[in-house]
Amino acid sequence: MSKNKNLLIAGNWKMNGSRRSLSIVSLLMKYIKTKKFKNTHVLICPPFTLINSFTTLAKRSKLMVGAQDCSNKALGAYTGEVSPSMLVDVGSQAVILGHSERREYHNESNKLIHDKVSNALGTDLLTIVCLGESLFQKKRGNTLRVIGEQLRKSLPDNINVKNMVIAYEPIWAIGSGLIPENDDIYKVHHFISQKLISRYGNKAKKIKILYGGSVNKKNASAILSIQYVDGALVGGASLKFSDFKAILEFCN
Ligand code: PGA
Repeated sequence: MSKNKNLLIAGNWKMNGSRRSLSIVSLLMKYIKTKKFKNTHVLICPPFTLINSFTTLAKRSKLMVGAQDCSNKALGAYTGEVSPSMLVDVGSQAVILGHSERREYHNESNKLIHDKVSNALGTDLLTIVCLGESLFQKKRGNTLRVIGEQLRKSLPDNINVKNMVIAYEPIWAIGSGLIPENDDIYKVHHFISQKLISRYGNKAKKIKILYGGSVNKKNASAILSIQYVDGALVGGASLKFSDFKAILEFCN
């Protein structure tokens, strides 16, 4: 692993966890403290119901807590929605947007994601936008075209690069145990980096590009060593402390 890589390792808990999961937060906090991470930031994104108790517990620690979605609206009569400022109010520091499970099961369009991203960046939330191709699109050789379109349409023209993060998550790799070849990950991350620089200028070099999809303790070291990979978005392997810790062991 390159020593000067500044990594973000984010856990996406999806619809998992209960108040009993506070014990995982305690273990993570202790682990991060003993490891004294310099160049690695650790984030966990539990369901909305757990954010407040997690942020309260992690208040004085370096562990960051975030959400998995937010509204494109600021406030008002939008039953079931949660705004970015409400997330900030309970101590959330980040939000994941445009995850393929939201795009697929909730019919989220690039336009809706674009509006959510603008809304989230209007607060100080670290905003992680997910992009990824399906297996069908990959097999037809359309990966870069799909990623390019999602990137162009999901991101607003006006962004604060400091709070912007991209996560490349091939849909077929999520939860499947399959991952792309290292060289394919490199190609997509390089492509995203070039697109960001051509749209936002050199300051876009600050935007982290995470890889997500079946990251585990066996493949994390190789994935995190790839150029243009600035961290990982981890689903299943973030739910168990020992698995997540094993991934974090490769950082720093
Ligand atoms: P996975 O999920 O690590 O379980 O494949 C990643 C994600 O969906 O963010």
